[in-house]
Amino acid sequence: MESKGNGRFSLSRCMRSGDTVHASVVVTLLLVIWCAQALEVSVGKVPFVEAMNGSTVLLPCTYSSCIGIKNLNFNWHYNNNGSMMKLCKGVIPIEGVEPRVQVFHERIEFVGSSKDSNISILLFNVTFEDEGEYTCFAKNPKEKDRNHSAIFTLFVVDELKVVDNTVTVIILSVVGGVIGLVIVVMVIKTVVLFILKKSAEKNKECLVSSGQDNTENGLKTAKADNKATPKA
Ligand SMILES: *[C@@H]1O[C@H](CO)[C@@H](O)[C@H](O)[C@H]1NC(C)=O
Ligand SMILES: *[C@@H]1O[C@H](CO)[C@@H](O)[C@H](O)[C@H]1NC(C)=O
Ligand SMILES: *[C@@H]1O[C@H](CO)[C@@H](O)[C@H](O)[C@H]1NC(C)=O
Ligand SMILES: *[C@@H]1O[C@H](CO)[C@@H](O)[C@H](O)[C@H]1NC(C)=O
Ligand SMILES: *[C@@H]1O[C@H](CO)[C@@H](O)[C@H](O)[C@H]1NC(C)=O
Repeated sequence: MESKGNGRFSLSRCMRSGDTVHASVVVTLLLVIWCAQALEVSVGKVPFVEAMNGSTVLLPCTYSSCIGIKNLNFNWHYNNNGSMMKLCKGVIPIEGVEPRVQVFHERIEFVGSSKDSNISILLFNVTFEDEGEYTCFAKNPKEKDRNHSAIFTLFVVDELKVVDNTVTVIILSVVGGVIGLVIVVMVIKTVVLFILKKSAEKNKECLVSSGQDNTENGLKTAKADNKATPKA
């Protein structure tokens, strides 16, 4: 009982504080902004792909809606040098029900699923002529039939060229790294040899000048010499 009362007390105190009011205003605004775009269509973070000729490529597209969908119409178009070519179309009656899809291209297959709001298609046996812009359209009658779309670009490359490039880049970076490492090792070796040579010379001088008491003096001069080298 008591803890409940405390909870209510702190809650009402929070409600009175300005920060919470501001936060709820911001959250409401965000929701309004988010829901203004009721249906969103996306082809992912990277809106293009490079595919080898002869390969099979996924043309990705997903939708999301914060007001829910009903009879969502979608289609895919290929921008064939200015004229739009319809590749496929379908309708998703309600969320979770798989769409009826009509495909108008012999190398295209619908692979989406309304379970994950996915309306992606596959393009088989890619040719160089397939290169270009693929537009994924969707409209939700729930929101005045507004069109939403996203463009995915396909680049078709020759198999050998891509492999060659990758191998060349790998070889070049490995060779570059090895050369860099060798240079660093050689510089360090030279510096160390130089220092050793210098201290050896100093040691010899000390041997000549101070006779028996050489070890300690020699070490000291070597240290002093070490300190002096960076200046030179
Ligand atoms: C890709 O194109 C090249 C050059 O046009 C051709 O030699 C090669 O056979 C093609 N590869 C495939 C898998 O179609
Ligand atoms: C695309 O259209 C331009 C003019 O609009 C034309 O010059 C070009 O040849 C066309 N390309 C193809 C592949 O049809
Ligand atoms: C793709 O090419 C292979 C071999 O060339 C063929 O067997 C297959 O039917 C083709 N697939 C489609 C969807 O055209
Ligand atoms: C859509 O479905 C295809 C085929 O199942 C899958 O490869 C792809 O990753 C899916 N995309 C997303 C964004 O879930
Ligand atoms: C939506 O796009 C389709 C093409 O997919 C077009 O036929 C239709 O007229 C467009 N509708 C609106 C309202 O812009």
